[in-house]
Amino acid sequence: MEQLTSIEAQRGWSHARHAAGQKVVFVPTMGALHAGHLSLVEKAKASGGAVVVSIFVNPTQFDNPGDLATYPITLEQDLALLAGAGVDAVFLPTAQDMYPNGFATFVSLVGPLTDKLCAVARPGHFRGVATVVTKLFNIVQPDIAIFGEKDLQQVLIISRMVGDLNQPVEIQVGATLRDADGLPMSSRNRRLSVEGRAKAVSLPRGLELANRAFKSGEIKSLSLTEIVYNELLVHEGVEVDYCDVVSVRGFEEKEHADDSCVLACAVFVDGVRLIDHVLLGGPAILVALDG
Ligand code: PAF
Repeated sequence: MEQLTSIEAQRGWSHARHAAGQKVVFVPTMGALHAGHLSLVEKAKASGGAVVVSIFVNPTQFDNPGDLATYPITLEQDLALLAGAGVDAVFLPTAQDMYPNGFATFVSLVGPLTDKLCAVARPGHFRGVATVVTKLFNIVQPDIAIFGEKDLQQVLIISRMVGDLNQPVEIQVGATLRDADGLPMSSRNRRLSVEGRAKAVSLPRGLELANRAFKSGEIKSLSLTEIVYNELLVHEGVEVDYCDVVSVRGFEEKEHADDSCVLACAVFVDGVRLIDHVLLGGPAILVALDG
């Protein structure tokens, strides 16, 4: 596995892959890798192209400086996992390379995709994501880029941006991987205590109960969200940031849920922010994104 530590080295690598007639398949990450990331790498490898993973803890997407300061860094372990997974190259840019002195250009979307759900509590977060992903696309020049469904709002924003800006990359979506207790895999899970984890699983459980209620004919959004609240709020130390039913395309708020909707929630469990969602019509709604 090649380690590319400069923008020039990454550009040269991508150029050589393209010159050899290969597709470049890209999995952007912030490190602290877990099995969920490795499933995205597996999807990338299955596409048959040359696979590059970036590890860059992007400062511009942290709305809370404390979160950035405590973001887990596990580089040696990450590199071993990626090498073991058969990744061809890893891109490790520095913050100074990505944001040199005088940096002044940002990519930001307008409208419901970036003013609802996670955007409310995390001002500037998606601007940081859209900016760094655009920069990474410009540097890596991938034919395909793969993102996890777990961060649904992120992947919808990136798809919108790629379409709007005619960025020549195909966005694919990897399914969310869950631990045996139902919690979606996330680098943040390692911050949970044993007691915190026991409380956190009430989020996927509540979503699953609401999904079952929807499948049995309950379409009132308020009733569906109430099912989730009832699971969550029996626990001390659990705070709901949002729990909403919106359309996947355009994040339109819906009084009555249908197959085009997502029930999405963010909670704080003993101060750790966790997100999860259920696509009420199943993952088929994302097929248009997943060429
Ligand atoms: O999902 C992430 O890990 C990050 O938001 C991303 C896409 C790598 C951009 O920094």
